[in-house]
Amino acid sequence: MVRAMKILGIETSCDETAAAVVDGDRRILSDIVRSQLDDHAPYGGIVPEIAARAHVEAVGPIVDEAMRRAGTGYDDLDAVAATGGPGLIGGVIVGVMTAKAIAAARAIPFLAINHLEGHALTARLTDGLDFPYLLLLVSGGHTQLLVVEGVGRYRRLGTTIDDAVGEAFDKVAKMLGLGYPGGPAVERMATDGETARFKLPRPMKGRAGCDFSFSGLKTAVRQCIENLPPGPVTQQDAADLCAAFQQAVAEVFADRVGNAMDAFGDLHGGAGALVVAGGVAANTRLRAVLGALADDRGFSFVAPPSRLCTDNGAMIAWAGVERLRLGLVDGLDFAPRPRWPLDPDAPRASAGAKA
Ligand code: KG4
Ligand code: ZN
Repeated sequence: MVRAMKILGIETSCDETAAAVVDGDRRILSDIVRSQLDDHAPYGGIVPEIAARAHVEAVGPIVDEAMRRAGTGYDDLDAVAATGGPGLIGGVIVGVMTAKAIAAARAIPFLAINHLEGHALTARLTDGLDFPYLLLLVSGGHTQLLVVEGVGRYRRLGTTIDDAVGEAFDKVAKMLGLGYPGGPAVERMATDGETARFKLPRPMKGRAGCDFSFSGLKTAVRQCIENLPPGPVTQQDAADLCAAFQQAVAEVFADRVGNAMDAFGDLHGGAGALVVAGGVAANTRLRAVLGALADDRGFSFVAPPSRLCTDNGAMIAWAGVERLRLGLVDGLDFAPRPRWPLDPDAPRASAGAKA
């Protein structure tokens, strides 16, 4: 029997230091994530300098731990992959330098992975999904609808013209004093809330195309808070606002993804699979709404387990498996890329749209 290839993946582009070993048979042999939440909590958001320093301190022990748990020696590795961007440049440099050092010392290939490609290909690791499929990629830095046509082949259907949806979750949480990261906190609060008490807009709903906008929704939440009676925001107020906000996001998602399903049908002659990825895809309510929409439209629905939706090393290792199979290795002169769009040919949604 041919031994399955084994790849070490390192992720350091945001506020998680993560490493994992994954093999070519889609087995996750280890998957270690160290969150820097406690380091950033006092500031209510990510501080790039603190993130970079924390990655420097954590990356060695985390890689060792991933190798130990996988029961793998460095000599058993076929390649080492690291996030090469997009992301906070200080952190990306730490991961890339670590991976290059291992590759050089062991004389194995180095692969620079686009973080978004890591999220985009996760459904092939977890579910063995075939190309093409429709992807809703929703995280703290990105909100995109893409057709994933192959490794390195992405067609962007839409993106946000202002804030990313995860950023909107984080800002709403901050306004309500719920801490960082906001997504899980807003989701928890929303379970005890009433969606109809506060009237919030559904930005872009009913418009042609697949672009998103969240900054007006965030402002509307701020206005609701300002219009509350004087005094601290009560638990019930916060719960109702979170429920209304999450419901507005759900309706916007359903509308935009509905249009993307039409576009996917035009391109590929019918229904296919809808995949969600990125940290916001961990949200149970949003998953339920998207699952129901997929059912309705004859699409299958693939939502990787939550811990593989948020940032992790396994998705980077797996993207490495896919790229190594195609011989797409990188040189040790690869320069980290703070901005790195998945579809360089995609039209910008409008001024200010994020890559
Ligand atoms: O993919 P990710 O871990 O990091 C980035 O690449 O950005 O996504 C982090 C984002 C944060 O904005 C966080 O608030 C959001 O995902 N998030 C959630 C949930 N869990 C994480 N948003 C809504 N509901 C959740 N349960
Ligand atoms: Zn991410």
